[in-house]
Amino acid sequence: MAFRRPASSSVSVFLFPNKVCLPALQKLSQRRDITSWLARWFPKTPAKAVVAQKTPIKVELVSGKTYRWCVCGRSKKQPFCDGSHFFQHTGLAPLKFKAQETRTVALCTCKATQRPPYCDGTHRSERVQKADVGTPL
Ligand code: FES
Repeated sequence: MAFRRPASSSVSVFLFPNKVCLPALQKLSQRRDITSWLARWFPKTPAKAVVAQKTPIKVELVSGKTYRWCVCGRSKKQPFCDGSHFFQHTGLAPLKFKAQETRTVALCTCKATQRPPYCDGTHRSERVQKADVGTPL
């Protein structure tokens, strides 16, 4: 039995995909410059953290459990991350830490502490108390 090439154009597209796909791919790459998209979602200069609250939040940490402490101050689930840093294009990332023991601790919400994620009393400073909630220090 001899091989016969089918006359249908859809089959020829299947057999010679480069003839059809290449111009379409070139058009796609011209339409969108991926670097601008990346720069929007992952800015080179990260945003400043904002004051979420002016007092720490007491939380009971469970030994061995991993937590993600909000660094940007934009989370609605303070003191933990809710993904706002990503959706607001801050370029910041939460601080991931593992509790060593089960105990109640005060976690910082002013984002000015020197020993994150724990409160070190910096929130009592004039600098933090004069700042507005939702603004950077
Ligand atoms: S809440 Fe930030 S140092 Fe106390």
